[in-house]
Amino acid sequence: MNILLVGSGGREHALAWKIKQSPLVKRLVCAPGNPGMAGIAEIRDLKPTEVARQVMLAQEIAADLVVIGPEVAVEAGLADALEAAGIPCFGPTAAAGMLESSKAFTKAFCDRHHLPTSQYRICDTAEEAKAALSHFEPPYVVKADGLAAGKGVAIAPDRTAAEAAIDDAFSGHFGAAGARVVIEEYLEGEIGSLFALCDGKHSKLFGWAQDHKRVFDGDRGPNTGGMGTYSPAPVFTYDLIEQTRTLLAEPAFKGIAADGAPYRGVLFVELMATRHGPKLIEFNARFGDPETQVLMLRLESDLVPYLMACATGRLNELPDPVWRDEAAICVVLATEGYPGPAKAGSVIGGLDQDFGEGVVVFHAGTSAGPDGTVLAGAGRALNVCALGRDLAEARERAYGAVALIDWPEGFHRTDIGWRALGR
Ligand code: AMP
Ligand code: GLY
Repeated sequence: MNILLVGSGGREHALAWKIKQSPLVKRLVCAPGNPGMAGIAEIRDLKPTEVARQVMLAQEIAADLVVIGPEVAVEAGLADALEAAGIPCFGPTAAAGMLESSKAFTKAFCDRHHLPTSQYRICDTAEEAKAALSHFEPPYVVKADGLAAGKGVAIAPDRTAAEAAIDDAFSGHFGAAGARVVIEEYLEGEIGSLFALCDGKHSKLFGWAQDHKRVFDGDRGPNTGGMGTYSPAPVFTYDLIEQTRTLLAEPAFKGIAADGAPYRGVLFVELMATRHGPKLIEFNARFGDPETQVLMLRLESDLVPYLMACATGRLNELPDPVWRDEAAICVVLATEGYPGPAKAGSVIGGLDQDFGEGVVVFHAGTSAGPDGTVLAGAGRALNVCALGRDLAEARERAYGAVALIDWPEGFHRTDIGWRALGR
């Protein structure tokens, strides 16, 4: 098979790494890819949102399957264009992808199809949003409606901070994504990320993990796209998994199909495990980043048949995926300053070495510099991942590898996995 993988982050490097291990795959092309992916696949320099050019590339390489990594390509309608061209695609249409690209859409969807989530108000002006605060208790949750790379959410301890977050969203800080704001009830509990595949009709659970969204140790500082993950995560008891499947994932697939937009691809359910069961924080219409990194390390089954089955409506023909018993961890290394403004272009050294047993280093936002150097972007640049017999061993291996990387301009959290290890 020939596969085109769209995207350039750590998630896509992990997917490429796993796809490459499949005996079914003859040729893997990644667009745009990154220097890490260049070591294992062909890379072509075109953006995920260049829909027409991505379709042409798929045709040029006679792709049997296109795998969409990032949400921006979903929102741009890449799956729709591939469908029109008759090319099998793993990833939902723009209409089904509304489950991620509009939080207001998703709240109304949850009401319509009876999915548990927090109470909310959708507001089109700052005045309306400020008035809506009186329907809630602090801390206040203020969210930009559209895609904001995980940074469009403010948890405000008091009214003054909430009003500042509202003004920030309406001032154009998040571009068009902030033209509408959702104010919602703060949920108490522990957060988890659960993944489910769907082929438009049939669905299947596809792993779970826990992320660390805040930038600093101890879950302090602003939200990021994710600073580290581990799997399995003890928050996912058998009951929580079953409740999430039956109350959130399956109703979402049924609901979106009933709304006329059958879902093909992976649905990422971000949930709060509350005292009253799982409640939806948000859906994402793609794999998680950095959740995918730990899932790919733990996935024993061949990934490619699952991707293909979602694209072709044959997921019911496959068994449940098999996961390794070992634990996996991912530590994100980012440029100092992230998630605020950060300076791109610092040199990351020490990547060409043996990092020890069980360790895999994925590239996220990096680029190729002169003389074979690797340069960091202005955000999350590397994912140092490891497998171990248990989380403690995986963590020791990963942090041992982090210490070998020579990058003074980078930083990372030192406490990934603290919830599980503290139990
Ligand atoms: P989101 O971008 O919607 O995933 O939100 C980012 C982070 O904000 C989540 O991972 C949670 O830690 C937190 N968060 C979002 N919504 C809520 C909520 N209703 N209650 C408590 N925390 C929330
Ligand atoms: N790790 C969270 C996300 O991918 O949005």
